Amino acid sequence: MRIALMGAMPEEIEPLLERIDDVCLTEYGENRYYEGRFAGKEVVVAYSKIGKVFAAMTAGMLIEKFRCDTLLFSGVAGAIREDLHIGDLIMAESLCQHDLDITAFGHPYGYVPEGKVFVPTDERLRKLARKVAEAKGIDLKEGIIATGDQFVADPERKAWIGETFGAAALEMEGAAVAVVCDALRVPFFVLRAISDSADMDAGFDFDAFLDKSARISADFILEMVRLLPDSEG
Ligand code: ADE
Repeated sequence: MRIALMGAMPEEIEPLLERIDDVCLTEYGENRYYEGRFAGKEVVVAYSKIGKVFAAMTAGMLIEKFRCDTLLFSGVAGAIREDLHIGDLIMAESLCQHDLDITAFGHPYGYVPEGKVFVPTDERLRKLARKVAEAKGIDLKEGIIATGDQFVADPERKAWIGETFGAAALEMEGAAVAVVCDALRVPFFVLRAISDSADMDAGFDFDAFLDKSARISADFILEMVRLLPDSEG
């Protein structure tokens, strides 16, 4: 088993890198990939840069060039659902692209031919996350996460995304990773800690809570890695 640990921003992977041993750095395609070990497992850590294009490229590289067979994404998100507060953890049941729009041709939002509106995450990884949450007494939330190339700081846009997709939280990379992993049949998991509420204060809150929320997510992800079976049967 070789586990990809991915974030979008340096702040999202720094808490992972701090705890990885035997690190070997490779620079490729203007990204840095850190191969190393955690809890006796091989891991490859990378951040993509912000947005769907960079995220898709990095996920593809982690799988095809660095031969990862499982991908765990860690980072922060804006809350849509009212029960989500800054610092809360949410795992994606499935992910969708809120900015994908060919409705002019009669298709639903988030759909293109041969694609899926909602791409589900791996059920076994979700079960493992519930186990970690229970053991640590963490109230891990679950829901649909909506992705788009847009930092949302607007109550109307946020409400539209919530209503249109039934989304609980939003961010800028998860669905791109989901599409790549789904196509390549690689089990994947997306975890986000809330950094803001995607409203007028979102820019300010994001800056204030990015580091702390990113660390909450990264610590949880590493607990999952610790509990992953050493090899998949
Ligand atoms: N990631 C964290 N907060 C976000 C927001 N408000 N919009 C998009 N991505 C985010």
